[in-house]
Amino acid sequence: MRRLTVIDLFCGAGGFSEGFRQVGFDVTYAIDNWNPAIEAHKLNQPEAQTMKADIETLDPKLFLDSRPDVLIGGPPCTEFSGSKRGGGGDFQKGMRLVLAFFRFVHVLRPKYWIMENVPRLLQTLPHRVRLQDMGVPEDGFFDVPRQEVFNSANFGAPQKRLRLLSGRYPSPVQTHFEESMLTLDNVLYQPWVPMRKVIGAFPDPLGRMNERETVSDPNYPITIKEKQLEDHFFAPPLYKRPEDGLMTTREAARNKQQKVAHAYYGKMLFPDYLDRPARTVMATQFNASRETMVIETIYRGRTRYRKPTVRECASLQCYPVTYRFPAKTLTTKYKLVGNSVPVILSAAVARAILVEEDIKVPAELILNA
Ligand SMILES: C[S@@+](CC[C@H](N)C(=O)[O-])C[C@H]1O[C@@H](n2cnc3c(N)ncnc32)[C@H](O)[C@@H]1O
Repeated sequence: MRRLTVIDLFCGAGGFSEGFRQVGFDVTYAIDNWNPAIEAHKLNQPEAQTMKADIETLDPKLFLDSRPDVLIGGPPCTEFSGSKRGGGGDFQKGMRLVLAFFRFVHVLRPKYWIMENVPRLLQTLPHRVRLQDMGVPEDGFFDVPRQEVFNSANFGAPQKRLRLLSGRYPSPVQTHFEESMLTLDNVLYQPWVPMRKVIGAFPDPLGRMNERETVSDPNYPITIKEKQLEDHFFAPPLYKRPEDGLMTTREAARNKQQKVAHAYYGKMLFPDYLDRPARTVMATQFNASRETMVIETIYRGRTRYRKPTVRECASLQCYPVTYRFPAKTLTTKYKLVGNSVPVILSAAVARAILVEEDIKVPAELILNA
């Protein structure tokens, strides 16, 4: 089978490249300037060559001998958060990284390219950029042929995450909808996958690990022993005691107040509703923050609240249960996971490219387990 190659810029823990890898692409290079991202990518996708570098100053010509079929990348999106719009320093930095990605596309001329970002960028990302503004000393323009927002829940993720995909790529095939539906062209959409599928797949993180039990991945045909399950139990070394994984009464009250009484941003449910796809998994998970998901639980006979564990967040992002996040702190693990492109959305785009190239789509995903 002909195999297509991919270079992943701003690779993070590797959600974007993992989707391509699972359907048979060769990820040749994965580049990031953050050590935890490089470590995570290297550990989980050892076939890719990782490179720690600042993409803003990295010369794309270094890769001319290994030009990829597909160039993918997700420049950091924090720079585009609402409060920083309007010319703030972070916004300029974010745009410079977007232009650096375009420079790679211009120099390497891959047949397909996909840049992932938050939908808000749609308001500011031009369809056409002057080459000189991208640091290319030539006259002319760089064109962005396609910009479309996709909802990962429509592709089978247990999370409703809207992502803007810009670039040159064929349409991924939608497989899911809010409810089961037969379209006018006779396509049967499956109903959205609820958050409960992930939360219910794992043992209670407040309990003890049971050596004899197994865990079935909520997204993939993988079963592992409970003792192989990482980043889930509220136990050492990341937690001193199980209680430390719970929200304090004050944190829960603050979280609830922000969700229920926030007139300007709109009301949200407290705790989160498990029978729908999860809300967007965030890169920071503060107990008292409005964006943090809240799961109701019973601890020592009392109703308590907790945020999802790193492992639950990873499954909401459709990482296989065997994917590892080798960071020392919880904050870094949540950030690696929350930054990611949902693997299932990425795999859907990758599959569409295989179809366009007349390459057989593998029936079975290529998994690490
Ligand atoms: C949104 S995350 C990418 C997530 C990734 N696409 C995934 O699916 O897992 C953005 C990444 O860009 C990296 N980054 C930020 N500035 C960078 C720079 N100047 N050069 C290289 N990487 C950078 C960050 O360390 C972070 O890992």
